[in-house]
Amino acid sequence: MSEKYKICGNAEVRIDDQVFTLPVFEGSEGERAIDIRKLRSETGLITLDSGYMNTGSCTSNITFLDGEKSVLHYRGYSIEDLADQCSFVEVAYLLIHSKLPTNVELDGFKRQLNDHSILHEDMIHFFDRFPPAASPMSILSSMVNSLHNFYPEMDDPLETLNITAARLLSKVRTIAAFSYKKSNGYPLVYPRFNLSYCANFLNMMFDSPVRPYLINDVVVDALNKLLILHGDHEQNCSTATVRMVGSARVNVYASISAGINALWGPLHGGANQAVMEMLEEIHQDGGNYRKFIEKAKDPDDPFRLVGFGHRVYKSHDPRCRIIKKACDDVLKSLQMEDDPLLAIAKELEEVALSDEYFIERRLYPNVDFYSGIIYRAIGIPTNMFTVMFALGRLPGWIAHWEEMWKSPDARISRPRQIYTGPLLRKFVPIEERE
Ligand code: SDX
Repeated sequence: MSEKYKICGNAEVRIDDQVFTLPVFEGSEGERAIDIRKLRSETGLITLDSGYMNTGSCTSNITFLDGEKSVLHYRGYSIEDLADQCSFVEVAYLLIHSKLPTNVELDGFKRQLNDHSILHEDMIHFFDRFPPAASPMSILSSMVNSLHNFYPEMDDPLETLNITAARLLSKVRTIAAFSYKKSNGYPLVYPRFNLSYCANFLNMMFDSPVRPYLINDVVVDALNKLLILHGDHEQNCSTATVRMVGSARVNVYASISAGINALWGPLHGGANQAVMEMLEEIHQDGGNYRKFIEKAKDPDDPFRLVGFGHRVYKSHDPRCRIIKKACDDVLKSLQMEDDPLLAIAKELEEVALSDEYFIERRLYPNVDFYSGIIYRAIGIPTNMFTVMFALGRLPGWIAHWEEMWKSPDARISRPRQIYTGPLLRKFVPIEERE
């Protein structure tokens, strides 16, 4: 258990005529938890918490969230400071190495990212075997999984994790750009040693032999911010998946490929793409966003206002505010201030935040509500928005995989259940079945 983990009291649980005492632990930010690791052995009972709404799966030193106070810290630094003062590469280093890099460390990390930015030429042929309409998330998880075949770890994966982390951060960026080029039949643009991480990605995406891509510093800055804001988010669905899969002592590529698949879901990282599709639909419908708000409120309608609500944030998502500002800056720089989807998004937010249904349930715009508007303004296709989320989340996934792997009390994740099926039945041979 992490050193910042101390007993601060006890909880008593009365079961039938017995009272059991369980320790209460407190984390470094004052969060408290009942330690139930001895519950089953002492009482014979387990807890039941579908969706893990109230269950902590581990202690972690990486990210702290306070959903009531709109607080998000990576390794103790506020998301506002990091988004305002750092590049994505600096924040990726912080998440993976637990400290902000010195200039020497940052230069070394950048060199590592550059050295590992090229894909094995055999891997490039894989793109030719996906159908043209293949989902970029499906391509990404397949390609990341196959990285293990090209770069099998040595016996001790932690020994090579520094290189593996740089390899993933750099090659996933290349895979994302190449999948876009290949799906459009465009010639591949290779990474360049003299461009920053984000500028390189944009150049690989949009440069062409017949039309050179002009790097726009405002766009590069916005992309750095977007990737930083997606860097980590404690035990969200995809990160918990990376830890779950990794707990079986699976290599980091396969664990992250599993995380990519979890992120794909429209309730999770797929929401940024779904927000854009929702805004487009509202725009096509003459901007009638009130109809969508009423649909979202209708208990009999499965439609939800995508980009709204969060399992942890019951107040503003601090990332959303930063993205909204970056949105205005990028659209102004690209002379797209009158983007109709941004106008619809802002009106939708204003009306929803004053509606009793959303107020009562403490539903606010989340990280996915405005991010798609920036990606679209940059020229990134909607079906790649969740790939961008994965690119940003990579350092967080890597950091959590390493933390889980190194944890002294790490064991294979294997939740229990309460069985509610049929009691023992007499077997019936097939000829006697009706
Ligand atoms: C991300 O976990 C993370 O940290 C995730 C993430 C990260 O960085 O990794 O922050 C990224 O995944 C952000 C979330 C993106 N998803 C969406 O925007 C999809 C739309 N949002 C919802 O589906 C929902 O809000 C969730 C999935 C985000 C959270 O779901 P919960 O915590 O299970 O909440 P719930 O379904 O129990 O909702 C509570 C109530 C319900 O109403 P009642 O049954 O009480 O009447 O709020 C309602 C829900 O119907 N509700 C919504 C709503 N979200 C919740 N109603 C309309 N529109 C919505 N968006």
